[in-house]
Amino acid sequence: MSESAATTHVAINPDRPVGKLDRHVFGGFVEHLGRCVYGGIYDEGSALSDDHGFRRDVLELLRDLRVSVLRWPGGNFVSNYHWADGIGPREHRPPRPELAWGGADTNRFGTDEYLRYCAELGAEPFICFNMGTGTLAEALGWVEYCNSAADTHWADQRRANGHAEPYGVRYWALGNEMYGEWQIGALSAEEYVAEATRWARAIRMLDPAAKLVGCGQTGWHDWDRTVTEGLAGLIDLYSIHIYTGSGDYWTNVLQPHQAERAIRHTASMLGRAAYGRQVTPPRIAYDEWNVWYREPGGALEERYDFADALAVATYLNIFTRNCDWVAMANLAQLVNAIAPVVTSPETVAVQPIYYPVLLHAQAALELAADTYVTGPLVEAQPDGPSRWDHRVADLGPFTLIDAAATVSEDRGKVAVTLVNRGEDTQRTRVELLGVEFAGPALLRTVTDERTTEHRPLPEVRSATLDETTEKPNGANLILDLPARSFTVVEAPIRSA
Ligand code: AHR
Repeated sequence: MSESAATTHVAINPDRPVGKLDRHVFGGFVEHLGRCVYGGIYDEGSALSDDHGFRRDVLELLRDLRVSVLRWPGGNFVSNYHWADGIGPREHRPPRPELAWGGADTNRFGTDEYLRYCAELGAEPFICFNMGTGTLAEALGWVEYCNSAADTHWADQRRANGHAEPYGVRYWALGNEMYGEWQIGALSAEEYVAEATRWARAIRMLDPAAKLVGCGQTGWHDWDRTVTEGLAGLIDLYSIHIYTGSGDYWTNVLQPHQAERAIRHTASMLGRAAYGRQVTPPRIAYDEWNVWYREPGGALEERYDFADALAVATYLNIFTRNCDWVAMANLAQLVNAIAPVVTSPETVAVQPIYYPVLLHAQAALELAADTYVTGPLVEAQPDGPSRWDHRVADLGPFTLIDAAATVSEDRGKVAVTLVNRGEDTQRTRVELLGVEFAGPALLRTVTDERTTEHRPLPEVRSATLDETTEKPNGANLILDLPARSFTVVEAPIRSA
């Protein structure tokens, strides 16, 4: 088929699966920070909350995002968090100074509230240990409280607090960003390896089923070399973090490609370390990622625009394309603090970044399929001004359309996620290799808001979601992707 050079061609080969897409890439993160927990997911006494103090409107919106795993309680907050302050009758729980972000924590939301929230949300829990001011004994107590069926002290305390059965928390992180001078009790990489080794061995003695997450940095720092080398064989997942963003449009929408570099570098470090030790390599937990550049401090109440939504859509394409290595990813964060969902005492609103997460999470199928894009390019842009010193220009040029695809295990369905970063409509031909479309394709497209009229909160921008169907022709589907848009295509397929 001859087509104009201006057309984008997206070739998808379901017979070349990249890997199984772990639903945990649709994970989230809530920290005791600003109004994320208190006044966000949890608002005691509000008419909008249920009997447990959970905001029902927030919970509903997060359920729609199909949050599969929920990281808690920090973040920087955790490095001075003493979990035992947050259990038992609320009137006996001590308020404590909060060192990471300032102020105090009342401890009214603690482990049992968090685990109830996970159950209500249908998300798997993922708890981060305090490796700042916390001790190994405290960490062991926390695991015992959550997971032990024995007649021992902390398991008995759990029963006394009304939870007869162990919770069975699987994911535990060995500290948060322990490399950073902003982290209470930060360590050198060598110190961290020594400490994390002691913790990992002891925790496994108590709970052999625990999945331990080692604390990496970005995936391209020296810390990562030392820690992957030191911890391969002791951890199941290796955590890295990334934030991007810039008021410069092209820098903002292209910077997420730095995550693709980080995954490549981390994968080779993990692969090399594991090969040396003759163990299975840990996989990557991208357990903090987002656009964040406007609000460096305070309550981090970032107000997002549509360029940010395109960046977020691209991140999720990247995690899909790299699902052979990325086993978990946690949007940081979920409510009020750098978040898709914003509350006021009276109402709730979603920011533009909510939509790409919603559409990705709802459409994703079991296997990521090899996807190859050719078409108009964005020439490598000089990296623009940014809060973050990522350089991505050398990774370009980038196709205007960024794409990823998943197929169902039975090869009966395909889902394609297409980000048009361009300033014009892009004619795009989606072609299936070895299979063909078996019926009309459902298209859901998000673009910038057309009016400010329907904003529940005047200062929170919205976005526009349109649904249509499109008739494919054999293995081909021709689409006109609107300027600056994100589109999800879902269609039945059959062998050609
Ligand atoms: O998500 C906000 C903060 O960013 C987290 O507390 C910390 O881990 C990271 O630096």
